[in-house]
Amino acid sequence: MIILTLETTCDETAAAVLNDRLEVLGATVASQDALHRRFGGVVPEVASRAHVERIIPVIDETLRRAGVTLAELDAVAVATTPGLAGSLLVGLVAAKTLAMALDIPLVAIDHVQAHVYACRMAAGHDVFPCIGFVVSGGHTNLFHCHTPTNFVLLGSTIDDAAGEAFDKVAAMLGLAYPGGPSIQRAAANGNPAAYKLPRALMDDPQRLDFSFSGLKTAVRYQIAGPGRTDFASLKLDPQQVADLAASFQEAVVDCLVGKSLLALKRTGLTTLCVGGGVAANARFRERMTAAAAQSGCELIIAPMALCTDNAVMGAIALERLKAGITDSMEIDVKPGLMRIGDSPH
Ligand code: KG4
Ligand code: ZN
Repeated sequence: MIILTLETTCDETAAAVLNDRLEVLGATVASQDALHRRFGGVVPEVASRAHVERIIPVIDETLRRAGVTLAELDAVAVATTPGLAGSLLVGLVAAKTLAMALDIPLVAIDHVQAHVYACRMAAGHDVFPCIGFVVSGGHTNLFHCHTPTNFVLLGSTIDDAAGEAFDKVAAMLGLAYPGGPSIQRAAANGNPAAYKLPRALMDDPQRLDFSFSGLKTAVRYQIAGPGRTDFASLKLDPQQVADLAASFQEAVVDCLVGKSLLALKRTGLTTLCVGGGVAANARFRERMTAAAAQSGCELIIAPMALCTDNAVMGAIALERLKAGITDSMEIDVKPGLMRIGDSPH
């Protein structure tokens, strides 16, 4: 079986061709970072227009790389939730068109579940049941993953996602979008103990939730002075930027590592799968690796290319196809984020 997977949930236009042995025959990611950089964040309308321009070239390039023709496809899969409505729609319309024209099944992908499945792809062996931790620009979710498609949400952010906090703090520090890589670079020359910043909810062992908005405000006050927000004109010297970046990064990493260890302890699970753009963070990977080794759990962090949005993780569609599950042409996008109590699919 050969499938085409599409990913257009946010600002990456991506496609992959995979077979049912989970082998990647070809994959492409067209990043829109350059388009959104001057706005300091993703502009939804700009993102959806860029997807419209790129989706067909990205599919063509992926098929070419895979050496596969449209006629050889057995199914087409697409991420339909969660994400930006306009962006999701471009992928879904492309997938429906192909499914209809080629008379092949359509399979909907849950993008958050796919981020965990990226770890399954990286591991090369079954990883379920496990704790799935998705840390990206839109999500900071801890799941008890019973199977690739049966997740129970254990905790999530009550305000900003971790990646969103990286992006916003980077903008405050005058660093380029996307903020995660910029902060990581700046932090390399900084002292993580230079500023005392809050670690919200860390003193509550009952909760597996996160909160980063207070941390963001604390960085703001460090720049502008207590209670002041008019820091745009203030000039930080490069060492202050580096120290603030390092202190902020350390605070986020403390929360991410602490709560994932708590999730393992609470569930008794011994495998932790981490995915999403923030999982690309070098300091997080280093601290998480050390913590996992110490606690004796198996840690699988998706490799860089599979952390940020991509279509290879759409291989999760094969799990649904193998179970005989496909979706109807009536299916629509579901932009909203998952909350505790929701059950995906
Ligand atoms: O998973 P992703 O590509 O898209 C979403 O589904 O959100 O994640 C993007 C997020 C951005 O907020 C970006 O700043 C963050 O991942 N990110 C990082 C790093 N690389 C990307 N955050 C921290 N350190 C990094 N090295
Ligand atoms: Zn994502």
